[in-house]
Amino acid sequence: MARFKKTFVAVVLCSSTVLGDLIGIPTVPFAVGNGTFDLGQIEEILIDPRYANATDTNGWTLIPPTLGQFAETFADDFASVTRKRVPTHSGNVPRKHSIFLTLDNSTEYQDAAARWTSEAYSLTVTKGGIVISGASPLGVWWGTRTLLQQASLRNGSLAAGTGVDSPGWNTRGIFLDAGRHYYPPSFIVEMCSWISYWKQNTFHLHLSDNLYNNVDVYSLERQMELYARFRLLSNDSAVAGLNLHPNESYTRQDFDDIQYGCAARGVTVIPEIEAPGHALVISQWKSQLALEGQIDLLNISHPDTIPTMETVWRTFLPWFYTKAVHIGADEYVDSQLSSDALAGVYNTFVNTMDQYIYNISGKATRIWGTFPPKANYTNNISTDVAVQHWEFFEDYPYQDYIQKGHSVINSDDHFYLVQKYSASYPNELNKTLIFYGNPLGGGFAPYIFDPNNATNNPPKENPLVPGHIAAQWNDYGYNTSTYLEAYYSWRDGLPALADKQWGGSLTEAQYDVIFETLQAAAPGQNLDRVVETKTSVILDYDLQGLPSASASAATEHKVVRDLSGNEYHGHTNCNVSKSNSSVVFENGCSLSTPLSSKGRNYTLSFHLTQHVDSPPGPLFTGPDSELRSGNGTSTQIMLVSAGNAFALNYSLPAGEWADATLIGRGNRTFFAVNGGEEMEFTTKLGVNGASFVWANMAVVAPLETVGGGKWRGEMRSIKLVDRVVCDLSPIILA
Ligand SMILES: *[C@@H]1O[C@H](CO)[C@@H](O)[C@H](O)[C@H]1NC(C)=O
Ligand SMILES: *[C@@H]1O[C@H](CO)[C@@H](O)[C@H](O)[C@H]1NC(C)=O
Ligand SMILES: *[C@@H]1O[C@H](CO)[C@@H](O)[C@H](O)[C@H]1NC(C)=O
Ligand SMILES: *[C@@H]1O[C@H](CO)[C@@H](O)[C@H](O)[C@H]1NC(C)=O
Ligand SMILES: *[C@@H]1O[C@H](CO)[C@@H](O)[C@H](O)[C@H]1NC(C)=O
Ligand SMILES: *[C@@H]1O[C@H](CO)[C@@H](O)[C@H](O)[C@H]1NC(C)=O
Ligand SMILES: *[C@@H]1O[C@H](CO)[C@@H](O)[C@H](O)[C@H]1NC(C)=O
Ligand SMILES: *[C@@H]1O[C@H](CO)[C@@H](O)[C@H](O)[C@H]1NC(C)=O
Ligand SMILES: *[C@@H]1O[C@H](CO)[C@@H](O)[C@H](O)[C@H]1NC(C)=O
Ligand SMILES: *[C@@H]1O[C@H](CO)[C@@H](O)[C@H](O)[C@H]1NC(C)=O
Ligand SMILES: *[C@@H]1O[C@H](CO)[C@@H](O)[C@H](O)[C@H]1NC(C)=O
Ligand SMILES: *[C@@H]1O[C@H](CO)[C@@H](O)[C@H](O)[C@H]1NC(C)=O
Repeated sequence: MARFKKTFVAVVLCSSTVLGDLIGIPTVPFAVGNGTFDLGQIEEILIDPRYANATDTNGWTLIPPTLGQFAETFADDFASVTRKRVPTHSGNVPRKHSIFLTLDNSTEYQDAAARWTSEAYSLTVTKGGIVISGASPLGVWWGTRTLLQQASLRNGSLAAGTGVDSPGWNTRGIFLDAGRHYYPPSFIVEMCSWISYWKQNTFHLHLSDNLYNNVDVYSLERQMELYARFRLLSNDSAVAGLNLHPNESYTRQDFDDIQYGCAARGVTVIPEIEAPGHALVISQWKSQLALEGQIDLLNISHPDTIPTMETVWRTFLPWFYTKAVHIGADEYVDSQLSSDALAGVYNTFVNTMDQYIYNISGKATRIWGTFPPKANYTNNISTDVAVQHWEFFEDYPYQDYIQKGHSVINSDDHFYLVQKYSASYPNELNKTLIFYGNPLGGGFAPYIFDPNNATNNPPKENPLVPGHIAAQWNDYGYNTSTYLEAYYSWRDGLPALADKQWGGSLTEAQYDVIFETLQAAAPGQNLDRVVETKTSVILDYDLQGLPSASASAATEHKVVRDLSGNEYHGHTNCNVSKSNSSVVFENGCSLSTPLSSKGRNYTLSFHLTQHVDSPPGPLFTGPDSELRSGNGTSTQIMLVSAGNAFALNYSLPAGEWADATLIGRGNRTFFAVNGGEEMEFTTKLGVNGASFVWANMAVVAPLETVGGGKWRGEMRSIKLVDRVVCDLSPIILA
């Protein structure tokens, strides 16, 4: 996945600089001194040996990297952002032309509640070099993000000066519903790299859920078959039968990879297993535990319900390298029973699970706000349990919980996203709310639960607000979106929200100036699936006139030259036609390119003919998507992504040449033949068994392999064009 160079925007920046702050995402308090330091002079990254093996034990993770490990990751990122690789060395004191990484302590390392925070750091830039000194290795890590961001924004020339930077809150990040839509481990780790660049430290992963169990519409049989998933896959006999979908699951190895991959960049994965509501997968596993008439709720009064959930947690707690886990406990509502009737058993469930989890693992429990304490309840939820507030119809977080001693994480639904369709929620974050969401004026911050009424918000310095987590849900299930579309929904707004989660002071105008520059440089990921290119033509294969193979060379690979100037040469083991005017795809032969995927926007054109009687098969395949001429039962042109097929009402003609074009335009994807009308790939969403909705699909271009399956036909040319011509003037370092 090659990266793209972008120009920087220092000129515009200077005019909008807040005196004393480094403009970045988030902003960094900084006293600007005299002169600049050119990163081109950096010769080494120096690790203070006194702290090389130190770790941050104050964060949520149990697998914190050492300072030395963070330094190695930083060295890779430095090379990625500046295109200059420098070695890491051990050194007791700063040296000329070095980035010195060390630890220290300062009375300024304080969060919003004036408590010491291990995530703070100091940054000092002189004419000779740079010192990043953290309250812990995690603080140093956030300091390296600042350095990389300033490198991109200032073309490698850092302002001299010094600053102390501390996050206001220790929980900053995102929630992803992986219960009603699967996401592969590699995608989750890539997302962690991305959010880490904005100094977010939390990825809350929802690991079990089901589609809305509409009991007014569904028969009991249908409810027992309704899409419900438990994503962790263990071969422990205690949970045999719980997970019947191994290809959409995380094994212990997968989950280790996710957690270590995220922790390497300072992000803690908070796992959630949901019960006693949204628990259809448990009822499908053990139907006797279902609440009669509403089987996505568990019958907590059944003697086996709590022991079953204890068994599930006992099996999976050893997988989780965190100090806190989430037991869901959301929306335990039944149309037949009153809330007060459910609250008593619900509170018993939560308190019992909290005690159980603490006793066997020492971990703390989190729940979604559901039944706030009331005087007449037989029992209320222990203040050991942290509450994640999401809606004022469930609770008033300040009055109901915080004033009664509970910690409350802010996930209020004014920042909820639902993929593609929702009667209540948008598909993208509301930037206005991010920059103007304080009812008393100014931007949003984690203590602002209610953006319209300050009475419902605690003071900024209240110590019972750990932070803010922005949630993205998949209410309409697995076929609503590709994996990357979860990223697209957050792409333009989440970094701005990250500034507010940290306690930054970025303005909307500043954000609009710097975002795309920083986005293009964010290391450790290529979620935009950018392909580096010299001009708007990324790849250009003329498949006419390739040398026809001699009999002996028939199975050898022929080089297919890329005429774009990018040298993305391919190779093929296919034959060329007798007249040398095309490459012939048959017998599973293929053409391979050095590319994998191209994100939006793109135009992939190819001149092809499909042989008469060709079976359906793949035309183009990549790691994120596939363009097919059909499948086992259909000859409709289709894109396949995230395990779902999105078909057009169109089949390729057989025995005639055609110009075909696959077009990714914004969040939509089209196909056109011979310059005719563009046909759009869409998805059909089932809405609670009551209706259907059609929605757009943004599918990246598959580029790795052409042919390679059962499809038989010929191609004469393949050309990939980026709709945006990018400026390739050199960035940063010589
Ligand atoms: C900048 O340089 C001037 C002149 O040498 C000096 O008076 C001033 O104190 C310096 N400022 C800082 C912040 O170092
Ligand atoms: C850090 O720990 C490793 C192995 O645990 C050890 O080899 C190394 O010497 C230690 N480094 C320092 C600077 O203490
Ligand atoms: C740093 O100092 C604060 C007091 O200002 C103290 O609470 C904290 O424990 C110290 N941290 C370390 C790592 O020494
Ligand atoms: C069961 O899981 C354990 C731990 O992940 C693994 O070592 C073992 O090989 C697995 N056994 C089978 C039969 O898959
Ligand atoms: C419990 O008190 C709430 C008000 O706090 C009231 O609405 C509810 O009806 C009461 N429930 C019972 C069972 O008394
Ligand atoms: C698609 O993009 C447009 C802007 O180009 C935006 O208004 C719309 O909300 C997006 N829709 C979805 C479902 O992504
Ligand atoms: C975004 O939030 C602002 C402020 O609450 C509101 O006025 C506006 O309608 C919202 N925009 C959308 C598209 O929901
Ligand atoms: C603001 O919230 C308070 C406390 O919940 C409530 O009493 C008041 O009516 C609200 N004000 C408005 C204007 O909604
Ligand atoms: C998992 O396998 C099922 C059954 O073959 C298939 O329908 C589904 O698309 C697969 N899931 C993914 C993510 O590939
Ligand atoms: C083939 O594609 C059609 C059209 O999208 C779809 O209805 C069908 O389920 C697919 N069959 C298989 C075996 O994937
Ligand atoms: C892609 O095209 C859409 C509309 O055609 C445009 O709004 C968007 O900014 C483009 N995206 C990129 C990454 O160039
Ligand atoms: C950025 O820095 C490089 C190396 O110092 C320099 O060659 C290039 O001209 C600079 N770019 C701009 C736009 O100033």
